[in-house]
Amino acid sequence: GKKVRIHHLREMKERGEPWPMLTAYDMYTAELFDEAGIPVLLVGDSASNNVYGYDTSLPVTVDELLPLVRGVTRSVKRALVVADLPFGSYQVSVEQAVATAVRFMKEGRAHAVKLEGGKHFAPHIEAIVRAGIPVMAHIGFTPQSEHQLGGYRVQGRNDAFDSVVEDARAVEAAGAFAVVLEMVTSEVAKQITHDLAIPTVGIGAGPDTDAQVLVWQDMMGLRRGRAPRFVKRYADVAGVMKSAAEQFAAEVKGHRFPGPEHTFH
Ligand code: KIV
Ligand code: NA
Repeated sequence: GKKVRIHHLREMKERGEPWPMLTAYDMYTAELFDEAGIPVLLVGDSASNNVYGYDTSLPVTVDELLPLVRGVTRSVKRALVVADLPFGSYQVSVEQAVATAVRFMKEGRAHAVKLEGGKHFAPHIEAIVRAGIPVMAHIGFTPQSEHQLGGYRVQGRNDAFDSVVEDARAVEAAGAFAVVLEMVTSEVAKQITHDLAIPTVGIGAGPDTDAQVLVWQDMMGLRRGRAPRFVKRYADVAGVMKSAAEQFAAEVKGHRFPGPEHTFH
């Protein structure tokens, strides 16, 4: 099929067709999700937790994310691949933001980048877009600012409604092609989705955004433990994999693997 381009996402918004987005961090997930018709894949800084085993998204580095981005972009035929800029790789200055975005495009062969931040990051977004790189913005609850925001808390309640709307308007004016709304009330997400011409991508933002994104290990049940309220589980990948490993272990210990059909003479 035809490659997904940023204007296709906006056209889907105009037609009122919601679209799905998933994270991907390697070849097989990228191939499968691309074949499943997911138009946008995100190599998220959530790889920090879901690939590298850190406890938050803060420690992961550009050098750790770049090889994952390369693996994903090499493996898709159709999907638009968005590379997440990790904590510390764009906040220092507008120049740093452009330089990091360029690395993800040149070395990672990404098709777009994503960064967290609203009106205070409009200059960064503007400069990256001016360099010819599409930017997906990310506002509401932004995990890289967990400590500033005082933990995982829903944004946009009561007095905070207007400031989230302001952030959305600012990132659109700066040239972002889409904006992720994370853990905001469905009321503020609905308002922003109506106000903006660019697509909104919700995660914990209710049913009215133009698109929905989830982390694949959460929605397919690879990650165990308590998931946030906004995650729906579509599979039990952890169960499938653990039972395969247990069966293999039992068959090796019981002299039942390999069988004659796996053996050369
Ligand atoms: O890193 C990530 O997975 C994300 C999505 C949850 C939007 O930023
Ligand atoms: Na992220």
